[in-house]
Order: sequence, then C-alpha cells, then structure tokens
Amino acid sequence: MGICLSAQIKAESPCNTGANSKSVSNDGNDFSGASSKGSSVSVAQTPRSEGEILQSSNVKSFTFAELKMATRNFRPDSVLGEGGFGSVFKGWIDENTFAAAKPGTGTVIAVKRLNQESYQGHREWLAEVNYLGQLYHPHLVRLIGYCLEDEHRLLVYEFMPRGSLENHLFRRGSYFQPLSWNLRLKVALGAAKGLAFLHSAETQVIYRDFKTSNILLDSNYNAKLSDFGLAKDGPTGDKSHVSTRVMGTYGYAAPEYLATGHLTTRSDVYSFGVVLLEMLSGRRAVDKNRPSGEHNLVEWAKPSLSNKRKIFRILDSRLEGQYTMEGAFKVATLAARCLSTEAKFRPTMEEVVKGLEQLPDANGTEAIQNHSSNGPRVRRRSADEALQGKIPAAYPRPSASPLYA
Ligand SMILES: Nc1ncnc2c1ncn2[C@@H]1O[C@H](COP(=O)(O)OP(=O)(O)O)[C@@H](O)[C@H]1O
Ligand SMILES: [Mg+2]
Repeated sequence: MGICLSAQIKAESPCNTGANSKSVSNDGNDFSGASSKGSSVSVAQTPRSEGEILQSSNVKSFTFAELKMATRNFRPDSVLGEGGFGSVFKGWIDENTFAAAKPGTGTVIAVKRLNQESYQGHREWLAEVNYLGQLYHPHLVRLIGYCLEDEHRLLVYEFMPRGSLENHLFRRGSYFQPLSWNLRLKVALGAAKGLAFLHSAETQVIYRDFKTSNILLDSNYNAKLSDFGLAKDGPTGDKSHVSTRVMGTYGYAAPEYLATGHLTTRSDVYSFGVVLLEMLSGRRAVDKNRPSGEHNLVEWAKPSLSNKRKIFRILDSRLEGQYTMEGAFKVATLAARCLSTEAKFRPTMEEVVKGLEQLPDANGTEAIQNHSSNGPRVRRRSADEALQGKIPAAYPRPSASPLYA
C-alpha cells in the first residue's frame, strides 16, 4: 500500500481503469447528438487500452483550439471551480455542430483542464472518459466530450448551474444561502441514487471520492456525481475487495480502507455517511479552525447521533424550525449506520435510498417551493445572471483539506 502525502490523495500505481462486462440502462438526460446509442450501453469485459476506451466512448473528441474558443481562451473570470485535477471553465458550444458558440448562445458547457502534465493526471483523465463515456444516469453528470492533443488533457461536461454542494453548504455570502432542510434531503437522495446505480449488479463501480465538492447541482437541485478520476471497477468473481493504493480525501475515507487499502462498495457508503453528517451539521468533514476535539466531524458527532436528546447539539443551527424531531432522528440514525466502523454493519446504498425515500419531502417538489419562499431571491437572480454570462460564475473552492498518510 502506498502512502501519499497530499490533501487530496489521487496517486496510484498503474491499474485497470477498465470496466467489467455489464449492460447499463441509459435513462439519463440525453444531450442531443452527443450519444444516443439506445437504451443500453455495453461495457467492455476486460481492462481496455487507451485507444479502445477513446474509440468506444460515446463522446465527442474536441480539438484544443475548439475548447479554447468555446471558453474564450480559458478566461479567468469564467472559472467555475478548482479541484485536484485542474480548473473548470464555463464555455458555450452549438448544440448541433458542437462548434464554439458566442457566450450566451447555444449550450453551456463546463470544461475541465488538467493543469499539470503527469502520468496520474492522464490516468484520471482516462478514467473519467472510460466511466462517464459509458455510464448514463440522471444522477451522474453527463460527459459531452474530451480533448487529447499534445500535452493537453481536457474534459467537457454538461454545465451544472448551481455548482457544487460544497459551495452551498459552506460558502457564505449572497450567492449561497444556506440550503433548506428539504433541499438537503433532496440532494442526499439524488446523490444516494447515483451511488446506488454505480454499485448495482450491472455496473459494479466503486466511486472512491464521494464528497461535497464532487456532488453538482442542476437548476432544480437535482444532484449529479461528477469527477470519476478515482473510480474503480468493483471486485469480480468471489473476491471481496479490490486492493488499491489509498487515495481519496482526508475526512471521507473509510477506516478499513485507510488501514488496508482494501476497497469495497461499503467504503463509498462510509463516505456517504460523512457527507450526510456534513449536511446535518453544516460543518466540514475536517475543519482545523474549530476548537480542538471538533476538528474531525465524525469523531465529534458520532457519539450524539444515536441519542434523541443529543442530536440537536450537532444539527446546523441555520435549519432551526425546518425539520421534525422524528425526521432529524431518522437521518441521524441513517448517518450513524453508514459510519459504522465495521463495514459489514453499514447499509447498502440501495437501503440508504429506501431509507431516505421514506422521509417526507425528500423527493423535493415541495422542497424547492419552500426554499424559494424562504427568501433566496438574491441567490436565484444571481444564478440566472451567471447563466447568461452577466456576472462571472465563479465558485472558488475553499482551502484544501489537511494531509494524511
Ligand atoms: N459540470 C460542471 N458544472 C459546474 N461546475 C462544475 C462542473 N464540473 C466541475 N465544476 C466545479 O469545479 C469543481 C472541481 O471539479 P471536479 O470535477 O471535482 O475537479 P477535480 O477532478 O479537479 O476535483 C467542482 O467542485 C465544481 O465546483
Ligand atoms: Mg473533485
């Protein structure tokens, strides 16, 4: 097992980024013309070479010049976000020809550009093309295309107008009002469905980097998972786990995965529990600015989760008056189960979806109405203006998480 000294641990020795034989239902939103290959996508059986991945993926190959034009030369004021891989820029393309379009016309896209040449960066880029080029689901972000030219590595996604869950939970200011209780439930359910789809028998993918900055929101707060750079095929045959080098993000990785490098779908369930806890508490998974004893969210909150009288100590004070005692306790109990130290006691993502669906309003129609009437006018207007390119749509990321080895 390797050790990696970076906040976002994204290094790995050469591995298979291929996928197992599976048939995946294509029930995602179609991006017209990009890839309408019917209702199922067949995924290669054995690890595939780069050429095979690029050839078989149902996405467009862009030239660097096209993406340069679409993003107006990667204008700094159109940066949507930053991650370990690089910066993400807003751009415009014609929806039929995919040629660069004038800002404000055609289809809005998000272009992720690898900012340093490295073998790891290339592997992550290829993993995203491999997985997102083949998997379609309403709760996975849609990959429209890629660019591989000289040293350039880029990815082109559908634009997610409300940015990441991270920004909505942790950024302050008129751009980001605190998410209401009902919207948090809606987002949690959407993200859970995305993970459950990845874990399903026909897909069998482990996502490995489930965290708030990788959950993106469309205009109706539908959650979609993005950033498949670390995704990995699940174990095949009678194997119980995949052996890997430890990667992920401090605060989200399951304890047994950190200790052994053994990866299972239950490691994703643990990370889901951390995100659920972040939504309940409004606190980051790791926050060194808090008093000692409160740096690590799971350590601080876990003892209060299974006690009806104690859970109110950890609930986000900005949510007061929006939840019932019963509802809050159910979500806290679900989070506690996902965070079980022993992986076998964690629920499957399918069970998590069922648990969340039983909560009133998790399906969200009322959620959006409630949220709008709670006074998010400023934010809504800003988002619309950002969409039209009137103001820069910048969602800078807060400082990176602390290191772990
Ligand atoms: N399709 C998109 N629409 C809008 N914003 C996006 C999109 N993709 C990424 N972003 C923004 O960029 C940030 C980093 O993107 P991500 O794919 O996670 O990159 P990395 O692989 O570098 O972590 C996200 O947290 C989000 O704020
Ligand atoms: Mg990311």
